[in-house]
Amino acid sequence: MGSAEIRRFQRRADDVAEFLKAHLVGESRVRIIAHIDADGIAAAGILARCLYAYNTPFHIMFTRPLKPAEIMELSKEDYDLFIFVDQGSGQIAAIHKFLLSKECDVLILDHHPSDFPEHKNLAYLNPHACGLNGAKDVSAAGAAYSVVEHVDKNFKPLVGLAIVGAVGDRQEFFSGFTGVNEVLVKRAIDLGLIRVSTGLKLIGRSFSQIAECLRLSIRPYLPSISSDPTACYALVESLDISPKSTIDELGQEMEGKLGDALLARVGQVAADENFRYTLLGTVYTLTKGATGPRDVRDQVAMLDACGKFNKAELGFAVTVGDQVVLTEALALLRIYQEHMVGVLRWLTANIDTFRITPHMRCIYAEDAIEPTMIGEALSLAMESGIIATDRPVIGLVDAGAEELKVSARATPGLAMRGANVGLALARAAEAVGGEGGGHDVSAAARIPRRRMDEFTVVLDRALAGNHGA
Ligand code: C5P
Repeated sequence: MGSAEIRRFQRRADDVAEFLKAHLVGESRVRIIAHIDADGIAAAGILARCLYAYNTPFHIMFTRPLKPAEIMELSKEDYDLFIFVDQGSGQIAAIHKFLLSKECDVLILDHHPSDFPEHKNLAYLNPHACGLNGAKDVSAAGAAYSVVEHVDKNFKPLVGLAIVGAVGDRQEFFSGFTGVNEVLVKRAIDLGLIRVSTGLKLIGRSFSQIAECLRLSIRPYLPSISSDPTACYALVESLDISPKSTIDELGQEMEGKLGDALLARVGQVAADENFRYTLLGTVYTLTKGATGPRDVRDQVAMLDACGKFNKAELGFAVTVGDQVVLTEALALLRIYQEHMVGVLRWLTANIDTFRITPHMRCIYAEDAIEPTMIGEALSLAMESGIIATDRPVIGLVDAGAEELKVSARATPGLAMRGANVGLALARAAEAVGGEGGGHDVSAAARIPRRRMDEFTVVLDRALAGNHGA
């Protein structure tokens, strides 16, 4: 992925900015439909700041990608411009059928793959259309930023939110950022908007007292520390740290000592590559104009928690500068962490119940984990070194009396070797009268409970098939 593709993306951003400007200077009313996760919320925040600056009225909704029937309903609403943020690419057929056909203007700022029709009412910025990879080179927030930056250079301070979106979509890898993301991080550093350092990547490092930050740690889960307040306070005391400090306030030397003490305490997981990468590495601090937590991962965790509790508007309000709701948004993050730390404790205690088949590790957790939590719990458990990542990981949980929810996760490394849990899950679910799908590294399904054993056999075979074993 070279600089030619990045330049193509920037040129397209400029064209899209012209399309948007026509609505900013007129009497347009705008409808924004944004995805309900950290990237979608950050992207919506960037766009909204631009619309506010031009006094352009807009109405915003946060939702999972709309279904065709919902887009049909949307087309009955009276707006001059519909903007799809972090979604829209996968819905292009319905958007064409219900919105473009009525000559409604549509703007799509997204990073999911699609083929776009040429249409005079349509503008879009999508990395895939420029030869870039939307899974790692730029997020929806990066796309939104790239457009508003071309609308007016005064929007440059919003670049921090673009990095929030990229981190939110897990676009940072062992070797750092690539593509447009890499350019945006460099720009943020040059503008003095972000500080990049090395340290502990724990959620809450910029706003939570250290012992509390450790107790609620889910990324990574810290064995014999997370969820154990006594152990957390004892560790802080043993290092002679002020109990009221945040990790941010410790200073480099003391933070290093805390990191060493954690590695010494967590046991054998300290040697695990995933665990170490999740615990230690690059820390991004917003140094100017942050409207929420200064730490980028803290900001991401807060926005994600708002989305998970269906209160994306709270996170959005923080991104556009509402300090009053910040406390409420952080309270949601705390509730989420309290819950998830319990789920990860359960997984750690029950790790021996994972069944290892030739092509997957699989657990049936009955009703110990909620259907909405199992997928993220598996991701966090893999990142924390709780579950080995040598093969895809599958979790099954009860979803009512008749149904099971299935979540599947694979690492990018497994996907590169050909594993595709999305395809395998879709195929295996269909074979037992269920329904499912997703991406190569993350997928979900619903299946009839009574066919669980048959399903796991078919799934193992499907996983074998899609990486050529
Ligand atoms: O629920 P969970 O977090 O495990 O979902 C994993 C991923 O699978 C999500 O990104 C979801 O959008 C995707 N998915 C899908 N098609 C389905 C079910 C889930 O793309 N039928």
